[in-house]
Amino acid sequence: MDIIDAIRSRKSIRGYKTAPVSKGILREILDVATHTPSTLNTQPWEITVVTGEVLDNIRQGNIEMLSSGATPNPETIYKPFEGKYKQRQVDLAIQIFNLMGIAREDKVKRAEWMQRGFRLFDAPAAFILSMDKSLDESTLNLLDIGAITQTICLTALNYGLSTCINDQGVMFPEVVRRFTHIPESRRMVICITIGYPDWDFPANKVETKREPVDNVVTWCGFN
Ligand SMILES: Cc1cc2nc3c(=O)[nH]c(=O)nc-3n(C[C@H](O)[C@H](O)[C@H](O)COP(=O)(O)O)c2cc1C
Repeated sequence: MDIIDAIRSRKSIRGYKTAPVSKGILREILDVATHTPSTLNTQPWEITVVTGEVLDNIRQGNIEMLSSGATPNPETIYKPFEGKYKQRQVDLAIQIFNLMGIAREDKVKRAEWMQRGFRLFDAPAAFILSMDKSLDESTLNLLDIGAITQTICLTALNYGLSTCINDQGVMFPEVVRRFTHIPESRRMVICITIGYPDWDFPANKVETKREPVDNVVTWCGFN
């Protein structure tokens, strides 16, 4: 797949076909994606791939935590967004809720939508990216995890697979740890769900907008 096509066509997919993704393909994706550059080639990523019963247990565990009123306990710092960043978050929610037919005041359906994220969008497989806690999460290490995250998502497209980067999947790290045995010494950073896209799923039709290049780029030294 052409690299420009891949970058332009990648989008977050929140509804998947039930078809499983073979271990062989998941391995090939990771074999390619681990070519991602990293700070001084430190390669801070550790990747746990989940499917089948383990993934179902994580979904169930997350929903039990939510139902019990437990507060999400992510291992990365979460600070609520403000200003234009908050506005973009709201715009995304409005788009998705419109597509899903969820009214703004419908708390039940909004909660159901949130649960879907904690069920890892019912995807047939997911990657959990973690890094050793000896690595400082305020430095370039997180940038490296971000870089491989995007590389995984782009590589997946080559196999007809789609992804959704999500932190919801690792917001209850104790649940993920219970079923994957990711050691306490590793910080869970991000989850990527993966599977064959269900194009009939309404939220998959979302078209997120980007700021025009000229709003985010400063040109220096050009005539
Ligand atoms: C670090 C990160 C965390 C994200 N977490 C979530 C999440 O928890 N739930 C979700 O539905 N989408 C999540 N997303 C997906 C974003 O909402 C999505 O990338 C953004 O709206 C742009 O849309 P696109 O991916 O379709 O281009 C996350 C994306 C990133 C990069």
